[in-house]
Amino acid sequence: MAFETSCDDTSVAIIDTKYNVKTNLISSQPIHNEYGGVVPELASRLHLKNIMYLSQQALSETALTFHDIDAFAVSVNPGLIGSLLVGVSFVKSLAYSSAKPLIAVNHIVGHVYANYINNPELQPPYLALIVSGGHSELVDFKTTDEFEVVGRTRDDAAGEAFDKTAKLLSLGYPGGPAIDRLAEFGDPQFVDFPRALKRNDDYDFSFSGLKTAIINYLSQKEADFIEKNVHNITASVQAAIVDPLVKKTINYAKKTNQKRIVVAGGVSANRYLRNKMNDLCKKNKIELFVPPLRLCMDNAAMIGAAAVDKYLSGNFADLTLNAFSTKGLRLI
Ligand code: KG4
Ligand code: ZN
Repeated sequence: MAFETSCDDTSVAIIDTKYNVKTNLISSQPIHNEYGGVVPELASRLHLKNIMYLSQQALSETALTFHDIDAFAVSVNPGLIGSLLVGVSFVKSLAYSSAKPLIAVNHIVGHVYANYINNPELQPPYLALIVSGGHSELVDFKTTDEFEVVGRTRDDAAGEAFDKTAKLLSLGYPGGPAIDRLAEFGDPQFVDFPRALKRNDDYDFSFSGLKTAIINYLSQKEADFIEKNVHNITASVQAAIVDPLVKKTINYAKKTNQKRIVVAGGVSANRYLRNKMNDLCKKNKIELFVPPLRLCMDNAAMIGAAAVDKYLSGNFADLTLNAFSTKGLRLI
């Protein structure tokens, strides 16, 4: 049984060691829309309110009881510390009271494992592009535990770039899905927004220059013009965020002769990204893995999937386990 409370989604899942998902319940928190971003204190309080209810619901839906569960997994980092602590404390108490193993999962690694649910045979080596609201990382996985972060964002994360643009255009939070929808009918070449760090041997990302360019562009246009051209503007922004992600991933894959690319994180739901990555992987004979849409955003099934190897190898945490908010992929 797996739990995810690192940001603003409370999620509880039950999964077996063959990656069959029995249930994957997600309670999101629309209250943050009113603030244009996640309010950490509200998020923790809502996790506290929802986690017991979701756990009971997960068990009743699958006709199981806590006694039937073999181990409890929880994401412990990175994320909002108050939110993580709700999940970690709750799951520690479950593991203690049922005398079952406790498994700690890195949330980012969880996103990568969302890909195992539809592809249980997937194994490293692979190159992972992990793009979410807080992360943009290009990671060369040689084995499950041995990896190298070969590119990262120097400022905003890719999801953050979508969210900030959506805020400027009053499209609500999270902004990625809204921009994805509007951009479908737009021309990505309508505005030539800048693409940062164009050097071929540089695999880092940067979106702060793009943000400034968008602010400057919008401040020079009338509201009428923006409204009339919102499809073209969002399509141009989307391309400016996604093009460098895809280009750098493919460049690195070609340079290091990778046979597999895995895309993960909330932004992996983006249709322009999925299509573009698909085209270029086909062209370069690279096998591409993207999570099913329902598993792109934060969910507990991916945390359960990341716990499978740990469960099978007896890699358990003890009750001194704590949450920590530090960014990054540190495997625990
Ligand atoms: O992985 P996730 O659910 O949470 C974090 O761990 O951050 O990712 C959320 C991010 C948000 O920034 C959201 O705008 C973005 O993923 N996102 C998208 C799409 N769906 C979600 N960005 C672009 N296109 C989408 N379709
Ligand atoms: Zn996430």
